Amino acid sequence: MNKLYQKTKAWVEKTYFNANHLIRTAYWVNYLNPKPSEALLIAALTHDIERAFKEGSKPFFSKKRKWDDKASNQWHSERSAKFVKEFLEKEKANPCLINQTVRLISHHEEGGWGEADLLRDADSISFLEVNVPFFISRIPGELSKKEVEEKFNYMFARIGSKKAIEIAKPLYKKAMADLNKI
Ligand SMILES: [Fe+2]
Ligand SMILES: [Fe+2]
Repeated sequence: MNKLYQKTKAWVEKTYFNANHLIRTAYWVNYLNPKPSEALLIAALTHDIERAFKEGSKPFFSKKRKWDDKASNQWHSERSAKFVKEFLEKEKANPCLINQTVRLISHHEEGGWGEADLLRDADSISFLEVNVPFFISRIPGELSKKEVEEKFNYMFARIGSKKAIEIAKPLYKKAMADLNKI
């Protein structure tokens, strides 16, 4: 792995409480495409980083919004892109790499072209692999069982590639089984 990737990983580990989800997203990007661009890998490694910055943030859970709400997802994606842009500029990264990374992070929830779709799919796999206990632990105080079920459904249903669906299927089934135990 190159130096910028390692520096970015160190920043994420130091900054974000759920760094493992980001590191596993980068792992799944590599798995789905063994020759990813540097921008795609760095986007995977940082795509949710805005949640680490509390000032000016929005609550992680909101009773009023749906998981697929376009405006909320766009706000979250663009806010993450802003922090990553600042970090990469400070590291004097190549401006072209910065632009590509920002564009990918800005579209990580919905995809839209090859690399962005791959990032979205890797994000979903990593979510189902890493974040399930965290979401279940929020029931009933912050989320209802139905809301968590909707989140799991959303994260699974948005996956586009056949290969990613095959990887995610057992993780999704286990997530639902764990949810139904409570
Ligand atoms: Fe996200
Ligand atoms: Fe994510």
